[in-house]
Amino acid sequence: MDRVNFTINGKQFSAGAEVSVDTTLTEYIRRCADLRGTKYMCLEGGCGACIVNVRARTASGEPLTFSVNTCLVAALSCEGWDITTIEGIGNRQKGYNIIQTRLNNYFGSQCGYCSPGFVMSMYSLIQGSDHHLTEEQIEKSFGSNLCRCTGYRPILEAFKSFAVDPDPKILRKIKDIEDIDNLICPKSGVKCGGTCGNNDQDWCLINAHVMGKEEPVPKKISLSDGRLWFRVNNIKAIFESLDQVNGYSNYMLVAGNTSKGKIFFVNVNDLSQ
Ligand code: FES
Ligand code: FES
Repeated sequence: MDRVNFTINGKQFSAGAEVSVDTTLTEYIRRCADLRGTKYMCLEGGCGACIVNVRARTASGEPLTFSVNTCLVAALSCEGWDITTIEGIGNRQKGYNIIQTRLNNYFGSQCGYCSPGFVMSMYSLIQGSDHHLTEEQIEKSFGSNLCRCTGYRPILEAFKSFAVDPDPKILRKIKDIEDIDNLICPKSGVKCGGTCGNNDQDWCLINAHVMGKEEPVPKKISLSDGRLWFRVNNIKAIFESLDQVNGYSNYMLVAGNTSKGKIFFVNVNDLSQ
């Protein structure tokens, strides 16, 4: 039986028939991977509490880094993804990531419920950019993160301090003067030159995790809820999968956070039609 394979914070996971088609990545991360740092509230893509970072490849094989609202993503959609949660970028034991530290220094966290989502959004923004973010780009990137406590100003000021054009007033607010410069290495304490060779380490701000090659073979999984799940990589494979169900069954294209379908499921009871 085929299975969907992905990593969470570098650890290998695989999902198959034991997972229902409705199992979201939020549920999988919290219940199966037992990582409760990723929060949830609205479960409809509106609050940003559930955001994590994903490294994946486009259909043409290009590496891509982005944030996802895990409540909108089916766990079965994650084939080949390298997922990083808030626990993966820094914690009390191994030390906090500079984004977590900066949010704290700017008093951008009160109850803390929204903080993992905000931090992982910012982490994904930095990872997916050329480290040349402006204040405006940063501000516009947080339209889907909600905070009920802080009033947003301290959060945005913390994150705008990573901009190439930060307001000097924002920089003056930072508590630790050595933390002012952009992209200070959390390990060496000096400005990142991008050449030390440690960018496969979790603590590295420009972490350039090397991804495995995406498995190009289409997958077909019979789920415990009586449905079939097809995982495909291209349009040809979609039509080949439709041929397998005679083109008569009800099906739904599933692609969390986008309007393009790469995956679909059918009800096996329809196969006799
Ligand atoms: S729980 Fe609100 S966006 Fe996912
Ligand atoms: S700090 Fe409480 S919801 Fe943002």
